[in-house]
Amino acid sequence: MKNRIAIVTGGTRGIGRAIAIDLKKAGCKVAASYHGNDEAAQAFKKETGIAVYKFDVANFNECQEGVAKVEAEIGPVDILVNNAGITRDGFLHKMTEDNWDGVIDTNLKSLFNMCRAVIEGMRARSYGRIITISSINGQLGQFGQTNYSAAKAGVFGFTKSLARECANKGITVNAVAPGYIETDMVKAVPEEVLKKIIAQIPVGRLGSPAEIARAVCFLAADEAGFITGETLSVNGGQHME
Ligand code: CAA
Repeated sequence: MKNRIAIVTGGTRGIGRAIAIDLKKAGCKVAASYHGNDEAAQAFKKETGIAVYKFDVANFNECQEGVAKVEAEIGPVDILVNNAGITRDGFLHKMTEDNWDGVIDTNLKSLFNMCRAVIEGMRARSYGRIITISSINGQLGQFGQTNYSAAKAGVFGFTKSLARECANKGITVNAVAPGYIETDMVKAVPEEVLKKIIAQIPVGRLGSPAEIARAVCFLAADEAGFITGETLSVNGGQHME
């Protein structure tokens, strides 16, 4: 992966942060996008030396401009990691339209926004690695997550379709489906509910962001060119296909 250029969306915190750091360790030139938290992004940049770019993955034009800026400053994108995501949990009978749209736009429409921005360049150069972070809850469904599970399940269909479209162009398109990982997102789950969830994980604990980064780096490698349209589940045994 030496000198490959990578963008990790939501790359300054949580799972994305671990992915950005590991891709850099593997020799990539990395750009990390973020949306809201300037303070965390600046601290991340100072600590890691990784360039940060502020744009909203839910916004088509911002993504085209953000990717154009990365390409002008660092170079053409070889690896795209669609990691940015949000939760707006709530039972469907209480869910607002804003909480539905927000999750679908950030977690699913973002795939179109980001892939559209990089795909023509990847096709022209006959090389690319696209990896999207889905979720165990896109595989199983979850209380309070009709919006999130719908978006994360959508990732699988998108991934397989784009994988077929690009297979003859040296571009692989895969998903990683994490289980419950020690991040701010999971810390927000009510304590009693989280206890019940951990009891269902055979490994007996939450995963770490580094354990997801390991899977992403595996798929991002030059040598992973024969793996496409696939989902790699990393969930401590909570869901075995
Ligand atoms: N599993 C089993 N039971 C659950 C449950 C779950 N995941 N979530 C809620 N329940 C149960 C509660 O225990 C409760 O049962 P009792 O009435 O018997 O106590 C009942 O459903 C109602 O729950 P609440 O009182 O909490 O109702 P609420 O309306 O205040 O909130 C909720 C409902 C939004 C679903 C809330 O319970 C919640 O946030 N649950 C967690 C949902 C979750 O797992 N989100 C995952 C976030 S992490 C993530 O998404 C990352 C990833 O990819 C894995």
